[in-house]
Amino acid sequence: MPNTVTITDNRTNASYTLPVENGTIRAMDLRQIKTGPDDFGLMSFDPAFTNTASCRSSITFIDGDKGILRYRGYPIEELAEHCTFLEVAYLLLWGDLPTEQQLKDWVHEITHHTMLHETTKKFLEGFRYNAHPMGMFVSTVAALSTIYPEAREVHNPAIRRHQILRLIGKVPTIAAYCYRHSLGFPYVYPDNDLTYSENFMNMIWKMVEPKYVANPVLARALDILFILHADHEQNCSANAMRSVGSALTDPFLTTAAAAAALAGPLHGGANEAVLRMLDEIGSKDKIPAYIKQVKEGKCKLMGFGHRVYKNYDPRARIIKWTAEQVFECTGRNSKLDIALELERIALEDDYFVERKLYPNVDFYSGIIYQAMGFRPEMFTVMFAIPRTTGWLAQWNEMLTQPEQKIARPRQVYTGHETRSYVPLTQRKELAAV
Ligand SMILES: CC(C)(COP(=O)(O)OP(=O)(O)OC[C@H]1O[C@@H](n2cnc3c(N)ncnc32)[C@H](O)[C@@H]1OP(=O)(O)O)[C@@H](O)C(=O)NCCC(=O)NCCS
Repeated sequence: MPNTVTITDNRTNASYTLPVENGTIRAMDLRQIKTGPDDFGLMSFDPAFTNTASCRSSITFIDGDKGILRYRGYPIEELAEHCTFLEVAYLLLWGDLPTEQQLKDWVHEITHHTMLHETTKKFLEGFRYNAHPMGMFVSTVAALSTIYPEAREVHNPAIRRHQILRLIGKVPTIAAYCYRHSLGFPYVYPDNDLTYSENFMNMIWKMVEPKYVANPVLARALDILFILHADHEQNCSANAMRSVGSALTDPFLTTAAAAAALAGPLHGGANEAVLRMLDEIGSKDKIPAYIKQVKEGKCKLMGFGHRVYKNYDPRARIIKWTAEQVFECTGRNSKLDIALELERIALEDDYFVERKLYPNVDFYSGIIYQAMGFRPEMFTVMFAIPRTTGWLAQWNEMLTQPEQKIARPRQVYTGHETRSYVPLTQRKELAAV
């Protein structure tokens, strides 16, 4: 039979024919495979979801072997070259590129949701002067939930759309306020005359000048970086967004959960880790010794490797090009030379070639952000701003798919069988493990 797979259970000699759809079998179809009436049935075991599709999605396509990334069918290279970030945000969320009028309305709507409630500013005041901006960002996004209680009505499409506008509009403001707080600078209100990226730069860097004027090359570079980071299908934080959102939690708390996942050094925290690694290496002549340590398993080459890409990350190629534009404005950063040499050596080394480890998006993004004037603690927050759009697109899609339920994996229990309670005075200390 075409489009089926037949499994023979060697424990019972029974055969089962399972349908194959889109290159997958349904894990629930395995449940019928039993050794007897008391058997629970076969499950699949897939820690870290390395071979499990958790949803159908029409948002982002990645072919990791070929190094392809498309949003809603459009190659990332074309979007990065021709679009603004908000145009791409519209595409990710609503499925098609906007018409001229739709884009005008969309930009107007987002721009008019950039202000924060004044109490949110007071909330930010409570953080210590040296609080990491990512912790502040996660907490402040979650705190928006207390201001917009109607957001809990996640099955109402109009209410959902309103929260999407709020979140995309407000995340740059929250990010900028976190940054200004850590520097002890006064907060700068959003400026509606500016584009999304320009306004973010305004809220970060405006001091006493009456009107902030962004450098157009840097503003465009930032917009391109936002486009490249906007979505990446079922990555760790998107999975967190879908998983938490599947409990019908409101979008502010759900986005905070996704941002918390992004904060880890194996995910969005990698760009900060790359900068620290380049600082640690210090100069080109120290690269071979560093690579030796990586190969001995003492550390990882941060910004290298990817769960899905086993080829050059297409975003890294665009970022490398963007870095050159930025450096023409800002002057060359010595870290770029170390990074280029590190990449050259790694790509010729059997360890990296055999394991198909290539530079990922985070390898060069931190260097650009630093050249623009951002401190490393801000890099992951800079990732969270555009990724909020991707998270919301994934969340909105999940809520409209009838086959989705509360996300709840199974486990393989490896603990004790039933044992009897031991009174406190009769317990013996276990040998230290
Ligand atoms: C992204 C990442 C978490 C993917 O992990 P993964 O899909 O679980 O891949 P694995 O850890 O199974 O890696 C496969 C092999 O390559 C090695 N490897 C993976 N990334 C490596 C890196 N950055 N440096 C050195 N070795 C690496 C692993 O040690 C493993 O080697 P082994 O087969 O000898 O055990 C991983 O590549 C990594 O930690 N990279 C650095 C952090 C980073 O840049 N993250 C940003 C991602 S956008």
